[in-house]
Amino acid sequence: MTKTYTIITFGCQMNENDSEKLAGMLEQMGYSPCENDKTADIIIINTCSVRANADDKFFGTLGEYKAVKKNSPKTVIAVCGCMMQQEVFRNEIKEKYRFVDIIFGTHNISEFPRLLKEYEGSGKRVTEVLEDTDYIPENLPCKRQFIHKAFVSITFGCDNFCSYCIVPYTRGREKSRKPEDIIAEIESLSQNGCKEVLLLGQNVNSYGKGLETPFSFARLLKEVDKIEALERIRFMTSHPKDLSNEVIEAIAQGKKICKNIHLPVQSGSDRILKLMNRHYNRDYYISLVERIRKAIPEVTISTDIIVGFPTETEEDFLDTLDIVEKCSFDSAFTFIYSPRIGTMAAAMEGQIPEDTVKERFNRLVAKMQDILSEKAKEYENTVQEIIADGISRNNPEIMSGRTPSNKLVNFKGNCRVGDSVKVRITEAKTYYLYGEMIQ
Ligand code: 5AD
Ligand code: SF4
Repeated sequence: MTKTYTIITFGCQMNENDSEKLAGMLEQMGYSPCENDKTADIIIINTCSVRANADDKFFGTLGEYKAVKKNSPKTVIAVCGCMMQQEVFRNEIKEKYRFVDIIFGTHNISEFPRLLKEYEGSGKRVTEVLEDTDYIPENLPCKRQFIHKAFVSITFGCDNFCSYCIVPYTRGREKSRKPEDIIAEIESLSQNGCKEVLLLGQNVNSYGKGLETPFSFARLLKEVDKIEALERIRFMTSHPKDLSNEVIEAIAQGKKICKNIHLPVQSGSDRILKLMNRHYNRDYYISLVERIRKAIPEVTISTDIIVGFPTETEEDFLDTLDIVEKCSFDSAFTFIYSPRIGTMAAAMEGQIPEDTVKERFNRLVAKMQDILSEKAKEYENTVQEIIADGISRNNPEIMSGRTPSNKLVNFKGNCRVGDSVKVRITEAKTYYLYGEMIQ
């Protein structure tokens, strides 16, 4: 009987891409995916540490597997990802979750087959977490979630040390893949039916800086744009301080580059931006948005915003509401500040009481909703190019997909996943559009 595996993934697309590689390696070893996650021979949990609720969800999930291991001691339970890069969580697992067999980190994903063998040989828990690495493994097998679209990591790690963020500690120093490796991966994907790639990095705009022969993100975009069978190129995340005119130009001129930029602002207050170590102020950000909109009139801009950073006053928060209005974002991911052990901000005085933060958070969400429903109306009666991603979550008779601007569209139509279709938008809701496929 073939052995089976399951992987539970928390967090960002970078983690999803790592899980795809783990799945690829397991399949190469002869494992097949398990329908029921509790009966698999190997269970891997890939963790996220960006906010406290991700930690809590992980421990909740891990607790569920205690009984699994008790009933079936041969099941291998492995834990990896950002939480495992932190000693405090490794110790917690060592002490309270003795049924975990393998612990590894973000820098040694490619070593999983060896760690598994070591565990199978000794029957004793194997822990291997590297502080950091310069090594980027290429050509790992990768079991992709979709055929028609794929994540392609272009940089790993982050050097920015925003004061609230754990990522530089869990993902290490920024390193870029070689352009030829990225292009070869995308060419091979496109030859196998992939139409859309999402280029991933914590700060894609600083791509290429540490390479032996420096190569800019703008140049990379231009090269990827030449790949014949590809239809769409997306990328994230863009740090405002590094978004050059050259990149804006490349997006404007690209044939396949989606005119959609994820540009986290985090706060609208100069004082808070400084404390966050973001290296820009509100005027710079507003003028950058103006510059982008002028150069690329059809562009959509999405953002991330943190509410309740230490010492945030009502006035600071009003500056955030104001920048949201001025920039008229096309979508925003809004977060309540979550102190992360080891970051500068966690040690700052002036943590904000929970009820104040919640009240501000609700006001921000309401403001964003007003902007979004207003903007959504612009889509009504337009015809949008959609790549069908799958069947709608709420209605099996409805397909769903995204516009080039990254707006979710649910639509009636007779097509298959991965098809490029035209959809007439009949109704615009705040968070998604509804439409009908044009035959
Ligand atoms: N608390 C709240 N939000 C955070 N983010 C990163 N770290 C934290 C934190 N400690 C948010 C930022 C970032 C997004 C990926 O997650 O807005 O852009
Ligand atoms: Fe975290 Fe800032 Fe790096 Fe983004 S740029 S991963 S928010 S430190």
